[in-house]
Amino acid sequence: MKPVDLRSDTVTQPTAAMRAAMMAAPLGDDVFGDDPSVNALQEKIAGLLGFEAALFMPTGTQSNLCAILAHCQRGDEYIAGQQAHCYRWEGGGAAVFGSVQPQPLDHAPDGTLPLDAIEAAIKPDDPHCARTRLLALENTLGGKVIALDYLARAAELAKRRGLSHHLDGARLFNAAVAIAQGGDAYAAARRIAGHFDSVSVCFSKGLGAPVGSALCGSKDFIARARRVRKMAGGTLRQAGVLAAAASYGLDHHVERLAQDHALAKRLAEGLAGIEGLKVEAPQTNMVFADLTGAARDKSPQLLEALKGEGVLATGLYRLRFVTHLDVDAEGVDRAIAAIRRFFKA
Ligand SMILES: Cc1ncc(COP(=O)(O)O)c(C=O)c1O
Repeated sequence: MKPVDLRSDTVTQPTAAMRAAMMAAPLGDDVFGDDPSVNALQEKIAGLLGFEAALFMPTGTQSNLCAILAHCQRGDEYIAGQQAHCYRWEGGGAAVFGSVQPQPLDHAPDGTLPLDAIEAAIKPDDPHCARTRLLALENTLGGKVIALDYLARAAELAKRRGLSHHLDGARLFNAAVAIAQGGDAYAAARRIAGHFDSVSVCFSKGLGAPVGSALCGSKDFIARARRVRKMAGGTLRQAGVLAAAASYGLDHHVERLAQDHALAKRLAEGLAGIEGLKVEAPQTNMVFADLTGAARDKSPQLLEALKGEGVLATGLYRLRFVTHLDVDAEGVDRAIAAIRRFFKA
């Protein structure tokens, strides 16, 4: 039986239609700027999110790195959340490659960074201190949707304090679909993006493409990011074969994210009431759960038992189950049954 892979929404296989779009893509050498499929994707995503320009990136990690290094200089710092991917899960790249130090802040329970904490973290203009130059937020953050009114207030703060403002929108469209509630998800994505100077968006997560992200911003900003991407070795040649998959995902896999969110809800509801498992209600496509009481330290055993039943999940810091294009209701029900069996045993 095919495993139910709930480790991440990055595990999807390109659909037959996406592969066909890749096969049909006109290609050129993107180092010379003449790959038509890359150029079309960059124009599409920039236009969709309301930016002047965009740059195709091999990964979300490189996209965030190029953004931070395009916004900041050596000796600058960026403010980000303790759980922000660009701070916690990208090997400290901005510090390693750019000499840009992070200033991490604790998240509020809703995933936001308290505005007074951001204000307090901004350093004075003093040679003892790094220059605070950038506020980097993430949406969704661990599956949580950061609300538009908070984004407006954070943007106002950034502007007032002279900070550039970057969004890691690896799952921007999950946030947009949740905010749109059945309405226009593309318009919601544009409203979220409108609060930032730059946005990184991933095509290889919920949108189901095998590879690729895009960084969006002003023309000047993208020109600076292009230099960093070159130095990082991320300037690809006939990348249109990948851009075509990303473009297909953008056109066909945004609205269907609502199905992933419904499946995450189904999973959380199916796990409710298990003694020893505290499940957080999901807002998008990620279900987080904590083992409690006698089960507290049993995460490795649970993951191993699930694996034996063809259900894959992760437990890096909390148990995490992620729904995506290659998971259906039957798979979710198999996962629920396998988890319930573990706790009954
Ligand atoms: C929020 C977030 N940002 C950035 C990334 C980095 O993306 P990539 O794996 O393409 O480098 C990830 C990857 O999971 C992510 O979850």
